[in-house]
Amino acid sequence: MDSIIVTGGRELNGQIPIAGAKNACLTLMPATLLSEEPLTLTNAPRLADIRTMTTLLQSLGAEVTALNEGRVLAMSSHDMTGHLAHYDIVRKMRASILVLGPLLARMGQAVVSLPGGCAIGARPVDLHLRGLEALGAEMDLREGYVHARAPRGLRGGEVEFPIVSVGATENVLMAATLARGTTVIRNAAQEPEIVDLARCLRAMGARIEGEGTPTIVVEGVDRLRGATHPVVIDRIELGTYMLAPAITGGEVLCLGGRRDLVGAFCDKLEEAGIDVREEPEGLRVRRNRDRARAVSVETAPFPGFPTDLQAQMMALLATAEGVSVLEERIFENRFMHAPELVRMGADIEVHGGTATVTGVERLRGAPVMATDLRASVSLILAGLGAEGETIVNRVYHLDRGYERVEEKLGACGAKIERVKAD
Ligand code: UD1
Repeated sequence: MDSIIVTGGRELNGQIPIAGAKNACLTLMPATLLSEEPLTLTNAPRLADIRTMTTLLQSLGAEVTALNEGRVLAMSSHDMTGHLAHYDIVRKMRASILVLGPLLARMGQAVVSLPGGCAIGARPVDLHLRGLEALGAEMDLREGYVHARAPRGLRGGEVEFPIVSVGATENVLMAATLARGTTVIRNAAQEPEIVDLARCLRAMGARIEGEGTPTIVVEGVDRLRGATHPVVIDRIELGTYMLAPAITGGEVLCLGGRRDLVGAFCDKLEEAGIDVREEPEGLRVRRNRDRARAVSVETAPFPGFPTDLQAQMMALLATAEGVSVLEERIFENRFMHAPELVRMGADIEVHGGTATVTGVERLRGAPVMATDLRASVSLILAGLGAEGETIVNRVYHLDRGYERVEEKLGACGAKIERVKAD
């Protein structure tokens, strides 16, 4: 398995282009299943998760062709051959559940494996299932698979989510576009990826109002047509690279960055003493002081502070002046990066969903283990600011969500290299 070696202590200066959003692309791709006509996505990121979704769609009979080195995904679901999302693919990526709503809407049936190891347990899909039931689907869980049917087609309905779920909102939104009548989704997720999905669906002929607010209203139509849609930029990649100069010092322009995508995050950076400026080309970040200031952060659904930036923020706060408190409110057990940061000399105490970070002057490089996607990049960020060499092992997680990390950071002066496993 590849590792990444970071030699810390260098200021970063330069520009970093931000790619299309992984999480937007992973919900836009299944939207192709809703139409017989082609759907083309531009500004797609080139990532392992996108290849997994490609394999899944192809297993259902969709054509997916990556053009322009993977930047463009030309898809067609004219000849669907299946409605089974097999465990072998779904176990690799939880977002596979996003084919459920489109398959039901188009084919009237779907059999989708429950995402790996999480049945109706720690990271459940109950909200997806309940939402689709409200549109008339019949659900049955057998042998690790969701068997969903809508023999007489889906009909509009009222869906009120007890908690905000990005994926469940996406699944119901996609299914509702082809349901008979009106669907109202309450307590809907408001993430930019939902807004992007709604825009794409609208370009395909869907009738949707209210995306980006807690109430989305969908008038079902008989069929959707083809479209070409540019994927919104990746706000998590953006936030991650904004943290790099905040940690090392220096000045970086994140090309394509927009403050409205990362507002709560920018507020916290500024509170920590980091300068953020919105320019026509993107977001420029500069650290004005020797060390950042401690800040307290609580993750929340959009427009709150994103859980997907919590690990990276912790890498900054590990060397900030003072005591920071990080509260993880979306996922339990999302502090796996904390013990690794402690191995680099950080002072972090975790109690349940709360991490107390007492800033130290400097971290020291160490061999560390990446445990998930965002954790792995937080260790790279920490390594950039640390003294000496940090070896991040098991970086396959990183490749699921970040393209060309070494190149992007290297171009700004970071000393970072990938060591290929034999
Ligand atoms: C998406 C993102 C992920 C991000 C998360 C929260 C994608 C591919 N992934 O994940 O990167 O961290 O939003 O911003 O877009 N829940 C239930 N039942 C369900 C569904 C969710 O209880 O049926 C819970 C989850 O366990 C979690 C919370 O709801 O505690 C929010 O999860 P959700 O918004 O659904 O996350 P994902 O869509 O899986």
